Amino acid sequence: MTKKIELADIGLIGLGVMGINLAKNFAEKGFSVIGHDSSPSHAMNEPAIYVHSQLKDFVRNLAKPRKILFLLPAGQTVEEVIQSLVPYLEPEDLIVDAGNSHFEDTKRRSQELATKKINYLGLGVSGGEDGARNGASFMAGGKPDIFENIKPFLEAAAARDPDNNICAKRLGDAAEVGHFVKMVHNSIEYAEMQLLSEVYSQFAEIKGYNNEDISKAITSWRNELEGSFLSDVTSKILKTIDNLTDAPLIDMIEDIAEQKGTGKWGTVSGIDLGVPAPTLYEGVSSRFISQYKPDRITASKIYRPVLNKNDVLSTDTIKRAFLAAKICAFAQGFQVLKIASLKYSWDLKLNDVAQVWKAGCILRSNILNKIVEAFDRKASLTNLLLDTYLSEELKHSIPELRLVVSEAALCGLPLAAHSASLSYFDSFIKSKLPMNIIQAQRDFFGSHGYRRIDRSGTFHTSWED
Ligand code: 6PG
Repeated sequence: MTKKIELADIGLIGLGVMGINLAKNFAEKGFSVIGHDSSPSHAMNEPAIYVHSQLKDFVRNLAKPRKILFLLPAGQTVEEVIQSLVPYLEPEDLIVDAGNSHFEDTKRRSQELATKKINYLGLGVSGGEDGARNGASFMAGGKPDIFENIKPFLEAAAARDPDNNICAKRLGDAAEVGHFVKMVHNSIEYAEMQLLSEVYSQFAEIKGYNNEDISKAITSWRNELEGSFLSDVTSKILKTIDNLTDAPLIDMIEDIAEQKGTGKWGTVSGIDLGVPAPTLYEGVSSRFISQYKPDRITASKIYRPVLNKNDVLSTDTIKRAFLAAKICAFAQGFQVLKIASLKYSWDLKLNDVAQVWKAGCILRSNILNKIVEAFDRKASLTNLLLDTYLSEELKHSIPELRLVVSEAALCGLPLAAHSASLSYFDSFIKSKLPMNIIQAQRDFFGSHGYRRIDRSGTFHTSWED
C-alpha cells in the first residue's frame, strides 16, 4: 500500500528572520507549512516546518492551487527566484511577494506572470521580527478571487487592534497596491523616526537632560495622542545599558544612519506625483547628511558651532510640537496615497489603510485612531490638515512647533523634520503664496507666460523693454 503524502497548505521561500517567524506564525495557526532553502541547515530548527532544499520537491509538496510566499531582498533575488520557480508551476498557482519590492516591479511581474496564468500579488508586511511571529500588519493588492487564496493565512497571522479588527486587508485590485502602501508606510516611518531623534536632541542638547530622563519624558506620553510604537522603542533604547562598557548604549552608537531604500522610493513617488512631502524627504535626507561624517567633522572645526543650552522649551512644548510635526508627516503620506490612487485608478480606501496600520506595524500610533475617524467622516478628504478634529488639534499644537523650531534655530540645533513640517503647514494654510514672483521670473527669462488674477488666459511681458 502506498502512503498518502500530505500536501502543505503554503510554502515559504526566504527563510531569514522574517520568513522563519512568519512560517512559525502560520504553523501555530494550524496551517501546514513547508519552506525552501538551498542550504536548509542554515534555515530553521522547527520540526513542524519541513524545509526542502530542491525547489522541485518544494513545489511538488504543495496543495493545488499552490500558494508560495516569499520574503526576499527586493530586486535581482526576487527576479531569480521567480525565474527558477515558474517552470514548476501551473495555472492558478499563486505567488505572493511579501518583501519590500518596488511597486512598479510588482506590476510588471504580475503582468508577465498573468500571460502564463500564474497569479501574483504584492504584499506589504510590517512589524519586523516580532510582528511576523506574533501578529503583523498586512497590506495586500490583487483581485478579490486571487486574494481569497491567501486571505485565511493573512487574517490568522495578522495583528488585531484593541477593537479586535484584523490588520490585514486587500487594498485594491492592482497587484502592486500593497507594495505602494507599504512604501508610503516606510516613508512616514522614516519621518517619525527622524522626528523622535530630534525630540531626543532637544531634550539632550537644549535642556541638558540625561538619557534616563529623556526616556521617562517620552514614556509619560505613551497613552496620549503622541504615543506610538516608535516612541516606546525610543524610550526603551534610551534606558538600555551597554554590557561592554556599562555606559548607556545609545552613547556608544555611531551617529551615521543607513537605509534600504523604501523610504526614499516613497519620497520619489511623492515628487513624481507632484505631492509636497517635505517631512518625508527630511526622513531620508537626514540619514544622507549623517553619512558625510568626515566633512561634518571638518566643518565643525571651521564653523565651531556653539549650542546655547537653556530651559525655554518645556517637556509639554516638545511633546506637542512632535505631535504637530507628526500629523503633518501623516498628512503628506496620505496625500501621496490619495493622488496615486487617482492617477492609477486604484480606488484606495484611506480609512482601510489607516485601519491596517493601527496594530502590528511599525507606524502604529495613538493618532491613527483619529486618522481612521477622519477618513470615516469624509472619505473624499483631500488632506488630513482639513479634517475637523485634526485641524483643532493642530491649532493648539502648531504654536508649540513654532516655538521649538525657532528656539532650535537660535540655538543652532538642526531640526530638519520639525522645520519641514512647520513650513509645510505654513504654506498649506496660506491662501496667497509668493508664486506670482515665480511665474514672473519664468516669463522673464524663459517667456513661459503667466496667468493673471483679473482675467483669464496666458500673458507674456517683454520685461526689459
Ligand atoms: C517594517 C519596516 C521594515 C523595514 C525596516 C528597515 O515595516 O517592518 O518598515 O520593512 O525594512 O524598518 O528599513 P530601512 O533599512 O530602510 O531603514
